[in-house]
Amino acid sequence: MKPGIVGWLDGKLVDWRLISVSPLSHSFNRASAVFEVMSVVSTPGGPAVFCLEEHLQRFLSSASQAFMKIPFTAEVIRRAVIETSHANGLKSGIVKCYAYHPDIDVGPATPETTTVAVFCLDFSALGIPHDKYAHPIRLGVSSLRKLHPQTAAVHAKITGNYANGFLARMEARGRGYDEALMLDLDGFVAEAPTANIFLASSGVVVTPPDECVLPGITRKVVMDVLGDMGVQVRKQPIRVEDLGSFDEGFLSGTLRHVQPLAQIEDCVFACPGPITASLLDRMQEVYEGTAERYRHLLTYLS
Ligand SMILES: Cc1ncc(COP(=O)(O)O)c(C=O)c1O
Repeated sequence: MKPGIVGWLDGKLVDWRLISVSPLSHSFNRASAVFEVMSVVSTPGGPAVFCLEEHLQRFLSSASQAFMKIPFTAEVIRRAVIETSHANGLKSGIVKCYAYHPDIDVGPATPETTTVAVFCLDFSALGIPHDKYAHPIRLGVSSLRKLHPQTAAVHAKITGNYANGFLARMEARGRGYDEALMLDLDGFVAEAPTANIFLASSGVVVTPPDECVLPGITRKVVMDVLGDMGVQVRKQPIRVEDLGSFDEGFLSGTLRHVQPLAQIEDCVFACPGPITASLLDRMQEVYEGTAERYRHLLTYLS
């Protein structure tokens, strides 16, 4: 697989194969890299990065929570995302930004250098269907609990946090599910490894509070759009025992956008349920740039 043709490395466009990290590096050993994934959507006005500013802010915030000094301003990284997308002729896909410590890890030393790299993955060039995440998804409740805010910076996209979700996902797949649903340490519903969850009953939509989850950028847009639709939506703790009382649900995330939930363990949902179906239509307008109120979320590449 070829992640585009060129990547951006510390200020220069280079052949992406030249961007490599040693297994001896601090970030490989301590999982100290931070990253961000942005969606490039195809719109009638040409390809556009969705929520570029929000992703840049979270990238910088993740770095600060990882005690990492990024040697570039948000504006430079912003231009890097656009320049790399252009250089690769990206039509629809994702842009991944990383900041990592390439120095050899020698025990307790504080890492001194930070490198920033940007890559593009074009869905059509990689043969990934545009509707890869449109199908309904089945979740298995993981035996592994979500990292707790007192043990990790759960609001940051630090690579070390992601072993937790990866193990949960592998366990769920081993049990025949598509994806994991993780609970927090108190047994309340938290999130999927890389997506937020929403559940609805009697016309009201709920999503877990921010404390133990990554407050997703898509989640915020979804909450605003549900509000526009006149649907009541609130953040509240969800007990795993109550999962069967919901009529429908969906996951939200940069890659999946909105993905309807077919089932969690043996609770089967209307799929897509009426709220999810309307939301999918409204979100389509948001991603296409035809919903005026959300147009500012698109940064057009052409
Ligand atoms: C742990 C986690 N939760 C939720 C999400 C969804 O967030 P977003 O909508 O910003 O992609 C992600 C993806 O970044 C994630 O890594």
